[in-house]
Parts: sequence; structure tokens; C-alpha cells
Amino acid sequence: QELDMQIEALEKEGYDHFMLKEIYEQPKTILDAMRGRINSKDSRVALRGIEEYANRFVRADRIIIVACGTSYHSGLIGEYLIEDLARIPVEVEYASEFRYRNPILSERDIVIALSQSGETADTMAALELAQRKGAMIYGIVNSVGSSIARLTDAGSYIHAGPEIGVASTKAFTGQVTVLSLLALTLARKLSTISNTYFQRLVSELELIPGKVEEALKANDHIKYIAGEIKDHHNALYLGRGYNFPVALEGALKLKEISYIHAEGYPAAEMKHGPIALIDENMPVIVVATNKSAYEKIVSNVQEVIARKGRVIAVVNQGEEAISNIADHVIEIPDTEEPFSPLLSVIPLQLLSYHIAVELGRNVDQPRNLAKSVTVE
Ligand code: G6P
Repeated sequence: QELDMQIEALEKEGYDHFMLKEIYEQPKTILDAMRGRINSKDSRVALRGIEEYANRFVRADRIIIVACGTSYHSGLIGEYLIEDLARIPVEVEYASEFRYRNPILSERDIVIALSQSGETADTMAALELAQRKGAMIYGIVNSVGSSIARLTDAGSYIHAGPEIGVASTKAFTGQVTVLSLLALTLARKLSTISNTYFQRLVSELELIPGKVEEALKANDHIKYIAGEIKDHHNALYLGRGYNFPVALEGALKLKEISYIHAEGYPAAEMKHGPIALIDENMPVIVVATNKSAYEKIVSNVQEVIARKGRVIAVVNQGEEAISNIADHVIEIPDTEEPFSPLLSVIPLQLLSYHIAVELGRNVDQPRNLAKSVTVE
């Protein structure tokens, strides 16, 4: 017992929890996900798994992404990335729904599974179904040699190293990094974006680990904000475009480890329901780093404030319109919009972490949850 505790303390490398350690590892794990796969000097991006099956990918009618939990959220970002950059239609489905709804699949479809553990039962079953129907199956997995990694025709590991905290953090950003590389690889092959834009994106992606490092510097400020909102029973997360899935992920993180009810919503959908809930007891966390639709997000924030909602805004450094009216502002570095989730998710991970700690929750092993769900 005593020895186990000492070993665990060593493994945490001085952090209070595995989750915090894993949040802080992200500059490195994102770099590890890119290692050998990207080079801005000669403007090159290559994922081996894609190269092997280049023809299938280039001729694909459709890509279907299947996943559960946090991996489903990175799948949604994958949809934005692949459709935006490579112009291949993408659908994202909860693996548990996909496997039981008699989906239409053909040999020209590619099914991509996203899974940290590579052992999630529903994701595994969705892949087996896709394989039976003749689709090519591709895995984006963390755990080397796992069941999903062995089942798939091809794939790319995210190389994030073991993730211990039940609430997934570095696996999420690892998945989004690989999906970014995948979208860029396909965009190059299909010539769907200009060379200059491609080069700009490749150079920017290489800067992301450093920018994550920068985003982590908001930690103390986020800890203070956590203290201010920890006693609320509900929270609403809003985001648009690439940052809509980030809002979903922020809400999931809060639910998982603090047990506070939270919902993520596309900001513009607020008026179709959640706005009815807004009063002074409803903190609203707004991801407002998008350059497109920026004015619309500003007006969403104004609507929340008019109803006395408390706004915590994640904005780009130097932003003013929202910073001037929000209750709390968290600044992160600017980036190209397709990569903004890799930065905007960082403060949301930290916010849920600090709220859970303040509330005395079991951060690394929240009640009723398992790291890997190998049964239905
Ligand atoms: C569980 C974990 C989540 C994870 C989900 C999917 O619910 O608690 O953190 O996102 O499973 O797991 P996978 O290993 O397939 O990514």
C-alpha cells in the first residue's frame, strides 16, 4: 500500500493528479503526434497509413467517423477539418448508434475509428460491421497493439503515451493533431486548397506546441475563476464552427469530474432553448476565438449579459469587444482557425480540473466512470 502510493507519486512527477500532469504534457504530446509526419521547411505532410491506401482515400465517396465520449468530440472536429480542407463529405456518429441502425455502407466508404484505449466495445463493434459491409477501416488510436489497432486495415497512432486520468485530455489533442495532419495530407493529394494556404497551415501547425505552452500560462487565473463558479449547479458552454465541438468537450469535462451539470451548444442555437435557462445562476462559458462569425459571437455574449448570465470568455490575446463586457476573460494565442480547438480546449480542461479540485472530487477516478468501456 505504502509502496504503491510512493510509486504513484513518482508517476505523477510532482503534479497533484494525473489529469493535471496530462494537461501539462500536451505541448510534448502534440509534438509527438506530429513527429516525422510534418516538415514546414519543404512543406511536407505525410501520414504513412494514408500513403499506403492513398487511392482508396482519394476516391472515397465519404468518410464516416465512429467514436464514443471525448473521442466523438475530436471526431466532430475531424469533420470540420476534412470537409473544410479536403472537401470529402464526412459523417460523425456515436459508435453505439451506428452499429444498431443498419447504416448504408459501400466499398467506396472509409470508416475511421477514434479511440484512446483502442478497446471500447461499441467502437470495435461499429468497425466490425463496417468491415463486413466492405468499407475500408482506419484507426486513430493511442494504445499501441490494442484491439482496434489490430482490427483496422491501416491507421495512425497518436503517440500520446499512457493516459491515466479517466477524463481524457492529451488523447483528445493528439487525435485532433492527427486529424489535422490527415486533412492536410488529403487536401494536398486532392488539390483542394492553394499551395500558399497549405504552406501557411503547415507552418502554423508546427507552432501549436509552443502556443499550447503559452495557453497553459493562464492556469492561475483559471484557478481563480474556478473558485468563483464552483458553487453553481449548471453551466452552459457555447462555441461556433470549429469551436462548437470544443464547447461539447468543455461541458463533458465539467460533468465527468466535478459532477456539475453542463451542456455544450452551438452558440447560435442558444435562442432555440438554452436562453430560457439563463439568469444570474447560470455561468456561460463562451469560446470566442473564431475570426469568422466573430460579430455573431459578440452578440450572443450580449444576449447572455442582458439576462444577467455570468460570462467566462475564452478569447484571443488583445481581443476587446468581448473582454470589455465579460465577467471573466481567458486569453489564448491566435492561430489559423482550423487549429483553434487545439488551443481553446486547454483552458476548458484546466477550468474543469480546478473546479473538481475545489469541490474535493476524485479527479483521476470520478464516480461511475471507467477509463475504458469494454462492455456495452
Ligand atoms: C470512456 C472514457 C472517456 C473516453 C471514452 C471513449 O467513457 O471515460 O474518457 O473518451 O470512454 O474511449 P476511447 O478509449 O474509445 O477513446
